[in-house]
Amino acid sequence: MTELIPAPRSVVAGSGEVRLTALSQLYAGTATEGVGHWLRTVLCQATGLPLREGWELDDTEGDGIGLQLDLELGPEEYRLVSDPTGVLIEGGSAAGVFWGAQTLRQLLGPDAYRRAPLGRDRTWAVPHVTIQDAPRFGWRGLMLDVARHFMPKDGVLRYLDLMAAHKLNVFHFHLTDDQGWRVEIQRYPKLTETGSWRSRTKFGHRASPLWEEKPHGGYYTQDDIREIVAYAAERHITVVPEIDVPGHSQAAIAAYPELGNTDVIAASMEGAPSLSVWDTWGISPNVLAPTDNTLRFYEGVFEELLDLFPSEFIHVGGDECLKDQWRQSPTAQARIKELGLADEDELQSWFIGHFDKWLTARGRRLIGWDEILEGGLADGAAVSSWRGYQGGIAAARAGHDVVMCPEQQVYLDHRQAPGADEPVPIGYVRTLEDVYRFEPVPPELTSAEAAHVLGAQSNVWTEVMEDPARVDYQTFPRLTAFAEVAWSALPAPAERDFGDFERRMAAHYRRLDALGVAYRPPAGPLPWQRRPGVLGRPIEGPPPNR
Ligand code: ACM
Repeated sequence: MTELIPAPRSVVAGSGEVRLTALSQLYAGTATEGVGHWLRTVLCQATGLPLREGWELDDTEGDGIGLQLDLELGPEEYRLVSDPTGVLIEGGSAAGVFWGAQTLRQLLGPDAYRRAPLGRDRTWAVPHVTIQDAPRFGWRGLMLDVARHFMPKDGVLRYLDLMAAHKLNVFHFHLTDDQGWRVEIQRYPKLTETGSWRSRTKFGHRASPLWEEKPHGGYYTQDDIREIVAYAAERHITVVPEIDVPGHSQAAIAAYPELGNTDVIAASMEGAPSLSVWDTWGISPNVLAPTDNTLRFYEGVFEELLDLFPSEFIHVGGDECLKDQWRQSPTAQARIKELGLADEDELQSWFIGHFDKWLTARGRRLIGWDEILEGGLADGAAVSSWRGYQGGIAAARAGHDVVMCPEQQVYLDHRQAPGADEPVPIGYVRTLEDVYRFEPVPPELTSAEAAHVLGAQSNVWTEVMEDPARVDYQTFPRLTAFAEVAWSALPAPAERDFGDFERRMAAHYRRLDALGVAYRPPAGPLPWQRRPGVLGRPIEGPPPNR
């Protein structure tokens, strides 16, 4: 019971237990019916018990589960009481009740995470306890890059379940990049016909690359996206889509060459500009042309996106936009002059600023990677601070909202240990303990500035993760440590009790086992996980950094 993760604010243990039986009922009060439906589904699957629907809270007397709102509680706050009258979960909103239901699942033991009963007689007991709990941050995010390696829809739904089990509530969906465009845009069919496939994939050491000579690709139809968004919403997760502009756009330019800096590309190719979806890693020099045509095109993309994603925030990327083509392009230079801008950084600001105004006029808010600070931050923009804390600190001091996701601590593509058997060739080592000691609010901020830190996020870039098992390996167990950082009221990093976290992890690994998560075991990779490099081939020499 004290093995709950993320750690709740307060746990007061009693001495008995509530036993769920074939007669137990589940009552869901006003506005918690969706949580009731979810909880009944997962618990019926795991236990085989019918958990009949109770009509009133009294029906749960003794051996049942009751869910209801208590509007005195904060929106994501919950109280779970298990005592001789049964189990009662109350929350300030359906979200709070949902997080309480996740805690109940942990109290029932690891087999509560299975999708069918084990077929043995067993008891399902909830120890008597009173738990009061609320999250530290409202933004507890996880970014998944589905551009570098495509994650089929079922994998995304499973990932959302894993997020929910860890009380994470923002799924940042990195849908486009140089190596693939993954969302259907009906008015621009070539984005997915052409842009969602690359002919081959690079792996191995940067100095001696190897190639997987087969096409890689895939995309989500608009109905797939609607399903993903609805599935997330049932789990109280907001999906924030990212369309990366004006850099990381080669897949879009391959589909619609006029989006690129055609004057520069034509000169370098001595002919008609024609690019392919990128088949290597890094940062493509091929960025969007700063023309009216590009703006109108992407307005069309964002129009369809707004219909699909109800989230307040829309992520426009903005990271790692190489400016060489803009320096070389007569068209881009003429644009800089015409707009009265000082340089290419200001041109990027102008580009992002256009979409800031465009999204604001439609009741949404723009968020971008911290490069959007360069050349001036658009008025309403929020920042994902990834190159360390500095971008986030500057943005918060200027009154902008911030999500802290510094690569030095919460980039889960980075390796988990220095050993030669560690399979992923991203050179930086970020251990489970490093993640556990991540502090989203830097001490430099005043409390007024710190109020702009919406929360924290872990990012999973998939250059070196060619399949869902590899994504599991990189994500877990570190995401569990991250979840505790984002949810629990932990002390300052140096004072955190990592030993206690590891003790609780011993129980949590059993939950991850029941969930079928291919996590990195604490003693190091299992033989089948010890494939060096990606795609099962060896890497020579020291691992490269990104
Ligand atoms: C990033 O890692 N390029 C945001």
